[in-house]
Amino acid sequence: MIVGLDRADDAGVYKITDDLAMIQTVDFFTPVVDDPYWFGQIAAANALSDIYAMGGIPKTAMNLVAFPVKQMELSILRQILQGGLDKLKEAEVVLVGGHSVEDRELKFGMSVTGFIHPDRVLTKKNLKMGDQLILTKPLGTGIINTAIKGGLADTDLIDTVTRLMAMLNRKAAEVMADYPVHACTDITGFGLLGHLAEMVVDSGMGIRLFSNRIPIISKAMDFASMGLVPGGAYENRKFRQAVVEFSSSIDNIFQDILFDPQTSGGLMICVDKTCAGDLLAQLHKNSLPDCAIIGEVSSEPTGKIVVV
Ligand code: CO
Ligand code: CO
Ligand code: CO
Repeated sequence: MIVGLDRADDAGVYKITDDLAMIQTVDFFTPVVDDPYWFGQIAAANALSDIYAMGGIPKTAMNLVAFPVKQMELSILRQILQGGLDKLKEAEVVLVGGHSVEDRELKFGMSVTGFIHPDRVLTKKNLKMGDQLILTKPLGTGIINTAIKGGLADTDLIDTVTRLMAMLNRKAAEVMADYPVHACTDITGFGLLGHLAEMVVDSGMGIRLFSNRIPIISKAMDFASMGLVPGGAYENRKFRQAVVEFSSSIDNIFQDILFDPQTSGGLMICVDKTCAGDLLAQLHKNSLPDCAIIGEVSSEPTGKIVVV
């Protein structure tokens, strides 16, 4: 076993031979959008993301379904499964099975298996002094989803956020494979700062974040200032605020965005400083325009994130 329960990472990794290791992960959740077909796509993109975050290539997947069969039309389930299947096809991953149970609340997700060379596994650890931090999707999906539930988002914004959540992290992972990446994770429920906290705690290093470089979905700031912040953002803050130092210019609304739980968020790529500009240019060239260098690894304060 290369990566297991002893450390919280995106997925488990088990070495099979000297040049082959298997990555396993599982993820499922309640609907994040009203449209069942898009929900299926988002759930699949989210489940696959942990394989990409380990630097691996997903190969097979199994559906996990909890469905309120007495209250809901089976056609809804069919659309969810179709969305999931179409996303797997896009990722060139084979659906090999699945399991469903009756439940009061609808849930859908997948368990995914992928491959990687045992020496190329990217975990949340291994930060090196001077490393540059690249984020590949803009923040704010939790806040926008809260606004959608409140009926405050227009159709254009709903469409933008839905596509963003359904977007695979595949391209970003393929591009980063050519670069000296030291660590990687994907930004999901713990928010940007929650996931960065996992990287920095016990690393012997610190992280400096540059607030003016962090990509944010348009309108997320507006909605956050209206108080449309999901409960998870406050839980994330409570859990990790001891690890974060905000400079006095960072207001509360911006802090909420940094703690906002993301659904199927982007990769956080920690790359050697000599190649960061190059990698960023390659990501932009590969139709990932929101990618940005948002921070760097510093020698101190150790175990802390400083937001300036
Ligand atoms: Co993850
Ligand atoms: Co996950
Ligand atoms: Co990783």
